[in-house]
Amino acid sequence: MKKEDIKELLSKMTLEEKIGQLTQIRTSYYYNSNTSATGTASKLKITKDQKWMIGTVLGKLDAEMMSKIQKEYLSNNRFGIPLLFMQDIIHGFKTIFPIPLALSCSWDEELIEKTARVAAKEGSSSGYQVTFSPMVDVVRDPRWGRVIESFGEDTLLNSLFGAAMVRGYQNNDLKNPDTLISCVKHFAAYGAAEGGRDYNTVDISECRLRNEYFPPYYEAIKAGAKLIMSSFNVLNGIPATANTWLLRKILREEWKYEGVVISDWGGVKELIPHGTAENSIDAAKLSLKAGIDIEMATTAYFEALPKLCKDKNIEKLLDDAVERVLLLKNECGLFEDPYRGISSEKEKQTLLCGDFRKIAREASCKSMVLLKNSKVLPLSENKNIALIGPYANNPSILGPWSLDGDINDVITIEQGLRNKNINLQSVETTSFNEISREKVDEIIEKTQSADIIVLALGEEEEKSGEAGSVSNITLPPAQIKLLSYMKKLNKPIIVILINGRPLDLTNIIEEADAVLECWFPGTEGGNAIADILYGAYNPSGRLTMSFPRAVGQIPVYYNSLATGRPKELLKIEKRYKSQYLDIPNEPLFPFGYGLGYSQFKYDNFKISKNELSRKEKISCSIDVTNNGKYTGIETVQLYMRDKVADISRPVKQLIKYKQIIINPSETKTVEFTVNEKDLRYWNGENQYKSDEGLFEFTIGKDSSDGISFEVRLVS
Ligand code: GLC
Repeated sequence: MKKEDIKELLSKMTLEEKIGQLTQIRTSYYYNSNTSATGTASKLKITKDQKWMIGTVLGKLDAEMMSKIQKEYLSNNRFGIPLLFMQDIIHGFKTIFPIPLALSCSWDEELIEKTARVAAKEGSSSGYQVTFSPMVDVVRDPRWGRVIESFGEDTLLNSLFGAAMVRGYQNNDLKNPDTLISCVKHFAAYGAAEGGRDYNTVDISECRLRNEYFPPYYEAIKAGAKLIMSSFNVLNGIPATANTWLLRKILREEWKYEGVVISDWGGVKELIPHGTAENSIDAAKLSLKAGIDIEMATTAYFEALPKLCKDKNIEKLLDDAVERVLLLKNECGLFEDPYRGISSEKEKQTLLCGDFRKIAREASCKSMVLLKNSKVLPLSENKNIALIGPYANNPSILGPWSLDGDINDVITIEQGLRNKNINLQSVETTSFNEISREKVDEIIEKTQSADIIVLALGEEEEKSGEAGSVSNITLPPAQIKLLSYMKKLNKPIIVILINGRPLDLTNIIEEADAVLECWFPGTEGGNAIADILYGAYNPSGRLTMSFPRAVGQIPVYYNSLATGRPKELLKIEKRYKSQYLDIPNEPLFPFGYGLGYSQFKYDNFKISKNELSRKEKISCSIDVTNNGKYTGIETVQLYMRDKVADISRPVKQLIKYKQIIINPSETKTVEFTVNEKDLRYWNGENQYKSDEGLFEFTIGKDSSDGISFEVRLVS
């Protein structure tokens, strides 16, 4: 449909039909409509006529259901405006990949894009046109259950990987039916909720927003995301859903965003409990004026806008919003083909087909992070293995945001090990949260002849995800107890972790001979774990979120400010410096950390010059040698510190990285180029600038060490 036809259509619509296009309800309303007096519908107070004016729906369906709903809808909609179907397809659809926090530990943009491409092919084959993904909220608090959905604590990685997901979903051609429209979320800074408690207050300086939290949303929009979702949280006193500075000044005026803005679930009516709206009429007015186009899951717009639109300014805002929604439907060709050519046959041929499992296995392998290995890994096939713990043969390893995944498709850890034909002497899937002495004795009895003990520990899925905030990030006591009993057997112990957040591992790291962080690894998780344990894959994952030494350290992240009394500078000062009296400042495992089966040596650093003018660039290089027996992937990281700036700048900031594959005894040279643009920041005086003066760069294998050098920026 041409743009002028959209305008023509808009001009013919009644006010109620326009409001309908801005209302999103659950898909289930259309297949449970004969029971419309129950469930969400009853509370929505939607009339029979309004049902055929709704613009978009969200929630579970398949190709057959979508066709049926769309057909019935089109036969009842006065202008034949198609419904738009949306879903949370967060890290895969039917083929479930590792959770985004895990995927980010691969540091592999191309792979992350590939997983989104697969998700788009599968999700679109089941009738969806939109996914509420990527989530690019920077996170620094592992108490927050939704860190699973993020790409971690670093701004650059959230920016790169969020944009990669958008490219994978949209594939540069939304008219192609195997694509999904990407909705980036949650705008903005939802990950900075106080106390790591979901939906809690966010109060954060504009400097921090612009330098650390905004860039990933901006990069996702630049990559072409056509929808952005406002976040639940208050942002500096005003809920994001009613935050005109955020949704109009930043998003529309500064970033020139022309896409659609959708509220989060119930976000419009939540302005009432937030205390910024007295009733639905207030809530609708504030939201539309601030810039919310689509109201998700509630009907304040239906209730309030007929009256509010007596004000021509409000009606103009409404028309603009409706036009954006109609253009969005047009972007994915819905007016030409409201079904985008779907069929149950095509759906069956698409889901979990071809090389999708292979891609899932690769993504799982690359997302896992080896945290400790006291020469016990990789295992040799002739060892007797005892596999014990709550995840030994538990298929619930997809993570809490895998709505359309099926645990029956999962390869469990036991199945993964059996696929290697190793001598799996015994398997014991224990409870997450309790274990009796008798049970332990039974396990000890069974594992007498085992050479190696593999403990599959972790958190239950519901301890992560939305509303999954916790105050304690250690493993349940029963699992610690199990480990300490197993320790008494004096056999090597490998701990496999299945979880959705950085944990406090201080009480297992000493006891275990090896610790492999597997996250919620997805459909192929068991095979990937077996690949790593037996050396078929040399672990290459690097942490994208710090692992605290204790919950009391939170927030602990690598790109923090120095303070006026940095502990490392005041060595002789015993007390009066920025420190804890009872534990070190550093996390247990830092951002960028990860072990493998290779030993990479860095040396022969070179730099083209130590002065950088604004028009030039400098290059620096480092040689990396693999002194191990295994070919491995090394992620060489380049950090920067602006030593003197208008505002205090982080002690380290990742500005570039490169991944290289190095064979045993091979040396590769990794080169970076830096120019003035890499040094810019927002200075709080409405300037985006770089400072002439001294910068410290560090090339290393993680954020805790490396080879440092200084460069002076000159005019
Ligand atoms: C949820 C989440 C959001 C999701 C939306 C639709 O509350 O906050 O991430 O996309 O509702 O399910």
